[in-house]
Amino acid sequence: MTESLLDSPLPIAAAPMAGGPTTLALARAVADAGAFPFLAGGYKTAAALAEEVHQLRSAASSFGVNLFVPSTDVVNAAAFAAYVDELSSEAAAYELDLDPTPLVDDDQWDAKLDLLLDDPVPVVSFTFGLPEASAISSLKKAGSRVLATVTTPQEAVQAQDAGADALIVQGPDAGGHSATFDPERPPKPVSTPPLVRQVLRAVDLPVIGTGGIDGPDAIRDILTAGAQAAAVGTMLLRTDEAGTSPTHKHALGDRAFTETVLTRAFTGRPARALRNGFADRHRDAPIGYPAIHHLTRPLRQAAAAAGDPDRLHLWAGTGWQAAPTGPATDVIRHLTEGA
Ligand SMILES: Cc1cc2nc3c(=O)[nH]c(=O)nc-3n(C[C@H](O)[C@H](O)[C@H](O)COP(=O)(O)O)c2cc1C
Repeated sequence: MTESLLDSPLPIAAAPMAGGPTTLALARAVADAGAFPFLAGGYKTAAALAEEVHQLRSAASSFGVNLFVPSTDVVNAAAFAAYVDELSSEAAAYELDLDPTPLVDDDQWDAKLDLLLDDPVPVVSFTFGLPEASAISSLKKAGSRVLATVTTPQEAVQAQDAGADALIVQGPDAGGHSATFDPERPPKPVSTPPLVRQVLRAVDLPVIGTGGIDGPDAIRDILTAGAQAAAVGTMLLRTDEAGTSPTHKHALGDRAFTETVLTRAFTGRPARALRNGFADRHRDAPIGYPAIHHLTRPLRQAAAAAGDPDRLHLWAGTGWQAAPTGPATDVIRHLTEGA
């Protein structure tokens, strides 16, 4: 069954992690270990993604590409302006002036879709909602298996109706952005295995469970709940091959951090991160991805360069304390005990 969904020897996938952590080296290592690699198409140019696809094709028998569905959230102009003001003292710490104009882009959506239609890959996954049903059917016609990331049984039904072949069921313990279709609706607390069960009662599609994996037992629980595979993100963040910034890698191993929080302070969309000063100081940040993402980006880049974990988006799932350093193949081997 697992082979039919992901075509990998192990029922384990490396979740896509845009913004640095997912690298070609990580994807290759994961594939070498028998797990299924996803490339992260988000934030990068279509040309850069094309190059990664080209390189991975010769190294992995099967793999997936993940894209962000463009956001339709409109940031409230007054709330945005107030947030620019609120962040001015944070920016002053690095002698930065933040751009007060909300920037909304579509992450080169059309070019990335064209790339995947011209040069089809085995699996395409989406997060942040559903693309047009026509995009799903074109990708399927091109020969790709199309996966939608969902966070509730209701979203699962919508994805099934739109023609998705399979689902990635993301529990709210997951690190990084919630895939929720509606950023106004924070994910309800539920661990991934019961969420997988709820989704399987609502739809008739194969699923991959993801979120909060901290070891082989968590993989086993997700598979026992009925998922065909489990996808792991945070457990790979500190590995040698991950392109996680050194400041982020260091924070993940720093015992001064004691919990994760769901915050929209960094990007305007709920995301799980290590609780730091920035997340605490801006609990009431407005909703508005990608405008807030672009607003805070120079600040976050400066924080990473300065080695300042207090102002960096330290994405982490609830299992972060178990994330090991060392080769990614060792992490996959360790997790395999649960497969
Ligand atoms: C640093 C980071 C970046 C992420 N980027 C993406 C992404 O580009 N696309 C996506 O669908 N999910 C993204 N996610 C979510 C993961 O795909 C996955 O759902 C999550 O890592 C699973 O939970 P875990 O981190 O507890 O293993 C990201 C997660 C992290 C930690």
